[in-house]
Amino acid sequence: MKTRDVVIELLSQIGSSREAREYLRKFSSRDSSQFAVIKVGGEIIQNDLEQLASSLGFLHHVGLIPIVLHGAGTQLNQALDAAGIDTQKIQGVRVTTPEVMAVIRPVMYRLNHNLIEALEALGIRARPLQHGVFECDYENEDQYGLVGQVTRVHLDGIRSSIASGSLPIVTCLGETPGGQVMNINADVAAAHLVLAIEPQKIIFISPTGGLLNSYDHVMSAINLETDYQRLLEADWVHSGMRLKLIQIHDLLQQLPASSSVSITSAQNLTRELFTHRGAGTLIRRGEGFCVESEISETRQAELKSLIETCFQRELHDDYFVALNIDALIWAGSGRAAGVIDQGCDGICYMDKFAVTPSAQGEGVGSALWHQIRQRYPQLYWRSREDNPVNSWYNRHADFCIRRGKWQIFGYGIDDMSLIGRLVEDAARRDEFWIDSTLEEESLA
Ligand code: ARG
Repeated sequence: MKTRDVVIELLSQIGSSREAREYLRKFSSRDSSQFAVIKVGGEIIQNDLEQLASSLGFLHHVGLIPIVLHGAGTQLNQALDAAGIDTQKIQGVRVTTPEVMAVIRPVMYRLNHNLIEALEALGIRARPLQHGVFECDYENEDQYGLVGQVTRVHLDGIRSSIASGSLPIVTCLGETPGGQVMNINADVAAAHLVLAIEPQKIIFISPTGGLLNSYDHVMSAINLETDYQRLLEADWVHSGMRLKLIQIHDLLQQLPASSSVSITSAQNLTRELFTHRGAGTLIRRGEGFCVESEISETRQAELKSLIETCFQRELHDDYFVALNIDALIWAGSGRAAGVIDQGCDGICYMDKFAVTPSAQGEGVGSALWHQIRQRYPQLYWRSREDNPVNSWYNRHADFCIRRGKWQIFGYGIDDMSLIGRLVEDAARRDEFWIDSTLEEESLA
């Protein structure tokens, strides 16, 4: 790809160059082999190869070399059908007789070559690693035949490829110490590779471009700390997705808290990586929340600075004196907080909902919102008419009433005269921005 094309791709895909630079710095901050492990299924290589190669090539152009691991699910089924071989799967594991292995190997090699050729056609160097990475034992020779249980992961080949500026393209095949080639389940291979590398990002390229919610929309982010149980119990989470969630959860538990999983499409990969909002599903171990009703001075200072960062305005010092705080709900990383005031008529008022842009992209905002909803069955709040968050508020509120420059939202309250009083109260509240009068005048 010519530099010009790279720039065009960059411009069309990326939200803001500041965001892009922030993530580029972050992803380049560790050892160069620890950027990402990207798992690609056979289906993507078959149907979306050019897009995949172009997204991987883009990463290579900005100096990031991911480790690509591929399976061959679809093609294997086709090849086995064509060869007239019936295979059996026991608990999702394909029983691999020598006859089946004879079909698997060439299919794996072919896919590996397809991917490398597509990259090289774009001028991107790539190296095939079809063997020598996964050392295996027999999983259970009598039951599964040549299915490998990974006993060691050898990283030399991968490291040397990255050091020379080539993308390592790893196949899901392993060998016993004696040299027998073994078939390894692609998810199992991915998990072993990830644990050996401890990358910042684990990326699954999937045809759906993410995990789908009950409306078949891609879920933007999952904060395992607060969402995992809820998702496992949800009736719309079907068995394939449950299994995936459990695997990802177990994997992330064994990695540094900063590692995250992204499920995205070949096309959206760049956007997923280089914007806060992403394009796909981001899964993190995430963070818990704590609730405080007494706010110490240190906390006040932290909260003030968070609010000022999020709203890009300066807060008056008497903010904390004027509020009648019921609770402060605070994300573990300190990047999000909800400030709940005692409100009027016994119904609490949400005075601030502050989430930094990066935390928004990671889903910390929705996780905070869940905490607030659980704790407050009734709540009201206000927001400026032109606030871009309003459409989100609208979806989460039962009512939205306009009063001058404010939109007043609430949920859990049916009594109309009570709603009237809450709306009046919300519209009357002081603003504690130092520049608020100034700005209003300049807007007038
Ligand atoms: N660019 C960041 C990352 O890759 C955030 C992505 C957010 N993605 C999302 N689907 N919410 O780590």
